[in-house]
Amino acid sequence: MTLKGGLGPDIRAESLQHYDPETLGQVIQDGIPGTAMPPWQPLLTQTEINWVVDYLLTGEE
Ligand code: HEM
Repeated sequence: MTLKGGLGPDIRAESLQHYDPETLGQVIQDGIPGTAMPPWQPLLTQTEINWVVDYLLTGEE
């Protein structure tokens, strides 16, 4: 809810600037194998993933 991390890491916009949008989209789509970060591809469309990427990188809806 705060994006500051807990089980997962801090994913506020200032913590994600090393990601280009395409790579960040792949992390959301495929998850991070071997960790608790799940793949979202079964639940989200590409359009929804793109929205999440934009939301995370800009910090705005
Ligand atoms: C739509 C919801 C979610 C989004 C957008 C999201 C996004 C991300 C991103 C961008 C990272 C990489 C952060 C970095 O490299 O600095 C990450 C890592 C991680 N996420 Fe998520 N996440 C979501 C849901 C979840 C859920 C539900 C869980 C746990 C049940 C989770 C657990 C983790 C963990 C443990 C990592 C770190 C993996 C590692 O050790 O590298 N995430 N998440």
